[in-house]
Amino acid sequence: MTNQYDIEPPPPCTLVIFGATGDLTRRLLMPALRNMRRAGLLPHDFALLGVASRDIGDDGFRDHLRKGMEEFKGGTDGSDIDWFLERTCYVSGKFEDDGTYRAIADRLGKDRNALFYLATPPSEFSVVVEHLGKANLLKETDDHWRRLIIEKPFGHDLPSAIALNKDILKVAREDQIFRIDHYLGKETVQNIMVFRFSNGFVEPLWNRDHIDHVQITVAETVGVEQRGKSYDATGALRDMVPNHLFQLLSLIAMEPPACLGGDALRNEKAKVLDAVQDFRRQNRHQNVVRGQYGAGRVNDKPVVAYCQSPDVPPDSTTETFVAMKLGIDNWRWVGVPFYLRTGKALMRRRTEITIQFKQAPLTLFRGTPIEHLPTNDLTLHIQPEEGVTLRFGVKVPGPAVAIDGVDMKFGYENAFQRMPSTGYETLLYDSMMGDGSLFMRADTIEAGWRVMQPVLDTWKNEGRRELPIYAAGSAGPSEADELIRRDGRRWRSLDGRGDGK
Ligand code: BG6
Repeated sequence: MTNQYDIEPPPPCTLVIFGATGDLTRRLLMPALRNMRRAGLLPHDFALLGVASRDIGDDGFRDHLRKGMEEFKGGTDGSDIDWFLERTCYVSGKFEDDGTYRAIADRLGKDRNALFYLATPPSEFSVVVEHLGKANLLKETDDHWRRLIIEKPFGHDLPSAIALNKDILKVAREDQIFRIDHYLGKETVQNIMVFRFSNGFVEPLWNRDHIDHVQITVAETVGVEQRGKSYDATGALRDMVPNHLFQLLSLIAMEPPACLGGDALRNEKAKVLDAVQDFRRQNRHQNVVRGQYGAGRVNDKPVVAYCQSPDVPPDSTTETFVAMKLGIDNWRWVGVPFYLRTGKALMRRRTEITIQFKQAPLTLFRGTPIEHLPTNDLTLHIQPEEGVTLRFGVKVPGPAVAIDGVDMKFGYENAFQRMPSTGYETLLYDSMMGDGSLFMRADTIEAGWRVMQPVLDTWKNEGRRELPIYAAGSAGPSEADELIRRDGRRWRSLDGRGDGK
């Protein structure tokens, strides 16, 4: 056994982080690396090379890193800090200067495996990638590999996503590129596939014959906080839908892949997005609703309206909430609506997927006071609760025939020992091992934007008058309730009570 998971540690490599003095490195990447080391998932010969514009030298960067590690510990006690600092160095320079890349090449050495992590603002992606290519830093030989990890957002619409992918593919092969969607690093997201395909009773029911509809909710209590400037140029749809929500949708709706490795999984996910009904042929106003939060209270604390937040223009038309109804045009799903919603400053933080099964016939209960049966829902709780709930009807004890809906629950926290995790550990490990199955491919990203582009085009010409405002701390705008009510259904309530129909 090589570590607690009994899996191979990765080969020696250097992680080169562009934007190394930023927030992502401090809050997520370093804690993830420390959790990996603790679990034996880092190479024995591991090195870290930070790249950023601040002229602070090796020692300054190590100090900066030490402070970050003291603040964000991951699951460690602090005794590992020196281990990381001993193998850390730094290159300062502008991302558009050739000299920066010459310095990186010198520090890296010729035959070293390297993982270039772009933790920079998205506007820098193309510049860094182009220079890495020009400096031959992405060139591989039989003795070493070179890989690129890119954070979202991958473009801000379809044309920009195509352009970015083109820029990257000029200098690297698709199998050298690892586009991160951190949702795919979550255990409960990876469990969607395992739950579906490792349980014989699930798959026969997983289709339009048995499923009434599917709901996917990613509700957040956080507002825009200090991100006003970048969020206002993005909005809830771009920020969450083509990436996180569509990843969840694909995992729920895809056909079983032939195997776990290689491109098999990503091929199946891509087919789902290709089969999503075209919004150009639909009533976009009925099937997609947006909203912006106004003032209110979340978790008993006052929240200012989105358009009063720092760096947000008071007449902003950026949406902080979006809900939609999608159809998937394939044999498995035709006729089954998928309802998706996500928003900020909502009443609860809750990411979950509910599969509502079709009702049993009421015939047996004719002549009794029972007028309807409880719904049969299967809910995959992604976060913060992690687990699975199945809701079904039981007889209420007593002489009369009465039925009530009850829940059968599985919770990760009761079943397994929790390992400290940021969600990045598996993704960093997989990229060091060269396994891209949990990463986004160019075609999937473009397919996601292709689905949403008609909606973005419609919104472009709308003003504030057409933008529903919902109170912070509520469940979103009433228009979102109407979107699903029109079909005789309703959203699962965000506070955990209530079910479908
Ligand atoms: C990010 C978005 O990708 O995901 C944020 O940019 C959002 O706006 C975050 O808050 C949600 O991630 P998680 O893991 O907290 O659900």
